[in-house]
Amino acid sequence: MMPSSSMPGAGSSELIYRGLHDAQAVAEEEAAGAGGSSSAANKPPHGHGRGAPPPPWVRYVLGEQRLVFALLGMALVFLLAPSASCSATTYTHTTSSSSVEYSSMSRVAALGQPQQEVVRPPGRVPLGLKRKGLRVVVTGGAGFVGSHLVDRLLARGDSVIVVDNLFTGRKENVLHHGGNPRFEMIRHDVVEPILLEVDQIYHLACPASPVHYKHNPVKTIKTNVVGTLNMLGLAKRVGARFLLTSTSEVYGDPLQHPQAETYWGNVNPIGVRSCYDEGKRTAETLTMDYHRGANLEVRIARIFNTYGPRMCIDDGRVVSNFVAQALRKEPLTVYGDGKQTRSFQYVSDLVEGLMKLMEGEHVGPFNLGNPGEFTMLELAKVVQDTIDPNARIEFRPNTADDPHKRKPDISRAKELLGWEPKISLKKGLPLMVQDFRDRIFGDQKDAAAGDN
Ligand SMILES: NC(=O)c1ccc[n+]([C@@H]2O[C@H](COP(=O)([O-])OP(=O)(O)OC[C@H]3O[C@@H](n4cnc5c(N)ncnc54)[C@H](O)[C@@H]3O)[C@@H](O)[C@H]2O)c1
Repeated sequence: MMPSSSMPGAGSSELIYRGLHDAQAVAEEEAAGAGGSSSAANKPPHGHGRGAPPPPWVRYVLGEQRLVFALLGMALVFLLAPSASCSATTYTHTTSSSSVEYSSMSRVAALGQPQQEVVRPPGRVPLGLKRKGLRVVVTGGAGFVGSHLVDRLLARGDSVIVVDNLFTGRKENVLHHGGNPRFEMIRHDVVEPILLEVDQIYHLACPASPVHYKHNPVKTIKTNVVGTLNMLGLAKRVGARFLLTSTSEVYGDPLQHPQAETYWGNVNPIGVRSCYDEGKRTAETLTMDYHRGANLEVRIARIFNTYGPRMCIDDGRVVSNFVAQALRKEPLTVYGDGKQTRSFQYVSDLVEGLMKLMEGEHVGPFNLGNPGEFTMLELAKVVQDTIDPNARIEFRPNTADDPHKRKPDISRAKELLGWEPKISLKKGLPLMVQDFRDRIFGDQKDAAAGDN
């Protein structure tokens, strides 16, 4: 067998072995020069000879290849130490804000002691730098409320990604942003997970009118539960702030009037509206659990009836129903005796409230609605005055679980968000009529042109 010193590829250890042999040879030479035999060199020193024998600690170091292991160990330290610190730096620079904890942990592990690190909360800009626009996801952004919110966010300078499966939304609602480099639209169902790097998530995706949410109740509750879980998971992963658009329906058929946020509601858990009402209540629960359990920054808005341009025509919501019927010269259908009350908020007021809530410091829930209260018959009268004084009213039997009263107590939003609606029903209604007119009669013109 070859001695290890002459083995090919022995590397640095080969040199060390040679060194050892040389040291031994010198010792033997010295012993011979002193008149002794080679074996004499191995004898314990007696204080005579040309040089004194190495002290015991040198012999200890040289013996049993201890020096080899010591040098190998030092070489390893030199090789590994710089790369370890390098990888820690790389993690801290390349990982997203979501992995701040991960990056600081890897530094601790790599360097053996905690390091002071600049941990930047997501969505905040360091002092001295100009605030850049935020990256914002709006789920349901192609719908009625979502599209108005997208308009405002883009106007403010943010980059917006709309995530929408177009179940009730329309591309036309956001088409005017097509050429804007800060606008993107992804056709996606929130029931499936998605990964996006963003600072804020406005979660609106959910069919909102009874006609649509009763169409496929299982899908509605799935959207509210699984869809909300997916968006909360995304917010947690990327460290984004999350806003849920809940609803006044969480109060059910209320036993308290007006409804304050402290009221827990009176909801039928097994009725035809439950997929929506209970779905939203669960979505609120999930949102608060992520807030408490995962320290997620969340906001909850409880939206009361809202109207305005881009509402779905014929979706069964009372304002859009009355306006479309009056324009088409059809009778206005009133369900029940028409004495049930609702409050109606113009969409720009709601969008203002949602943005104030998102940017503010309070989790909520906050009622966002217009406290002006109207019976269905009073609303019909406003529609007659605005569109057609001769419009007839037709009574039909009421639908199941239709709440008798609905009026928000908005003191909390007034006090903590500095928000209150500005546009009355009489001012707001004419603002949506032109949009409805264009869509109803524009559609009819298109159909007529297609027939020719
Ligand atoms: N408009 C109101 O009066 C009102 C009142 C209370 C609460 N809200 C809430 O506000 C939000 C927006 O309501 P809106 O009036 O604009 O309704 P909308 O139907 O016009 O908009 C909902 C949007 O969500 C999309 N969507 C539905 N399911 C989806 C899914 N699974 N994946 C991806 N996208 C999906 C739809 O395509 C649509 O674009 C809803 O969450 C609703 O519950 C609205």
